[in-house]
Amino acid sequence: MKAVILAGGSGTRLHPLTLVTNKHLLPVFNKPVIYYAIEKLVDAGITKIMIVTSPHHIDSFVRLLGSGQHFVPKSTHAKQIQIVYGIQNEPNGIAYGLFIAEDYVGKDNCVLFLGDNIFLDDITPAIKSFKKGSTVFLKKVPDPKHFGIAEVNNKGSILSLEEKPLKPKSNLAVTGLYVYDNTVFEKIRKIPPSARGEYEITSVNSLYLEEGTLRAHMLKKEWFDIGNIDALHKASLFMKKRLSHEK
Ligand code: DAU
Repeated sequence: MKAVILAGGSGTRLHPLTLVTNKHLLPVFNKPVIYYAIEKLVDAGITKIMIVTSPHHIDSFVRLLGSGQHFVPKSTHAKQIQIVYGIQNEPNGIAYGLFIAEDYVGKDNCVLFLGDNIFLDDITPAIKSFKKGSTVFLKKVPDPKHFGIAEVNNKGSILSLEEKPLKPKSNLAVTGLYVYDNTVFEKIRKIPPSARGEYEITSVNSLYLEEGTLRAHMLKKEWFDIGNIDALHKASLFMKKRLSHEK
């Protein structure tokens, strides 16, 4: 299993903090946002990661992360985790960002991790038990209009998916973590851009839903989407408290 972390996008909701840097490089308490994604993947046993970002910021990521030498792999077989880089020229959608990693992923399955998301749950079991189709990770939110939303029946199966609906059918957000089999790339090829001109990951997930191979995994612990200043601040306070409890 390989992983792709998306760290592009425009970050306009965090201006002026992101006028000269990228939101994934901002601090959440004692480390940059992107560290949380890398550490979560490494803890789940993943050693091969591609970071996809814009041409404006790729040099900062390379200086910060290099080839991954600061992260200690879980498996004793891997000497070091291996980070490589991909460039997304325009922020034309999450699905397009993943598409850039097609050759890197090759014939493997892959985890797509939105680099501005922070998860507290252990994702290892869901990744280790993955066989085919797609797994998405759901979390109850108070403001469902701002997310991809899943309608789920009483058996936990997904009935419908909508991207930022005006009238949400549930309060279950599809978070920024997805496990895909290798058919994801042929699915990305099939989707048209949305009304806002982006290749939406929800369109890709909808193809898995139509096919009957989309599974939902409910998250139990905290989840943060560092899309705005309040979320950045909340996540920093949470991590500060968590670290002081660990001491
Ligand atoms: O955080 C979960 C939500 O993420 C999901 O519920 C939504 O379905 C999904 O569309 C996405 O919504 P956001 O509005 O939060 O997406 P945002 O534009 O903030 O981008 C999410 C991440 O992907 C962020 O780390 C930047 C990166 N990105 C985004 C775009 C559009 C790229 O690397 N390239 C892109 O073209």
